[in-house]
Amino acid sequence: MQKKRVAILISGRGSNMAALIEAAKDKDYPAEIALVVSNRTNAAGLEIAKANGIATAVVDHVPFGKDRHAFDRALQTEFDRHRIELVCLAGFMRLLTDSFVNAWHGRMINIHPSLLPAFKGLDTHTRALAAGAKIHGATVHFVAPEMDSGPIIAQAEVPVAADDTPAMLAARVLEAEHRLYPLALRLVAEGRVQLRDAEKSKTPGIEPGVTG
Ligand code: GRF
Repeated sequence: MQKKRVAILISGRGSNMAALIEAAKDKDYPAEIALVVSNRTNAAGLEIAKANGIATAVVDHVPFGKDRHAFDRALQTEFDRHRIELVCLAGFMRLLTDSFVNAWHGRMINIHPSLLPAFKGLDTHTRALAAGAKIHGATVHFVAPEMDSGPIIAQAEVPVAADDTPAMLAARVLEAEHRLYPLALRLVAEGRVQLRDAEKSKTPGIEPGVTG
């Protein structure tokens, strides 16, 4: 089996990245984590990646100012250097340009802490509680130019308890994320989920019987 070479983009603690790294240690896992890139020099996840012997790079967004294209070109240079085939965003707090997103169409995925299309954007747990949601969760989706809007690959749901605080709910969702992301990356790396004709259907092709 030819494993897909994956880059993970992070900005912070990197717990989802760590879950992907752990999953990829299985010899039967169809992807290898070839590179971790952070846009912040002090992202805690960088140390976890290094401790696991994974190549890391920092592409600090600050010197690029408002030039998002130049930042994305610098990312692409790192991807080229490491022959990256798939990209996982994992707590990457930086908007990518439409042209970069389109260049990685069907090959770049993201995890978002809500059951999309509900609660796009930030503070999802606080907003789910405020809305009185009884079910909440996480989504892995293909990245599209519009934020948190790409076709859904897999979802995990968690119950919301009456006395939940945002932190309690976040912790429950995070556990689900750590199970969900490795499953979703597996589906994409094996080619069992593919983006096809996204403009028409907005729904990725999925084999019958595969659920998130
Ligand atoms: C996760 O909740 C993820 O869904 C969101 O950002 C958070 C990143 O956490 N996109 P971590 O860095 O993976 O621990």
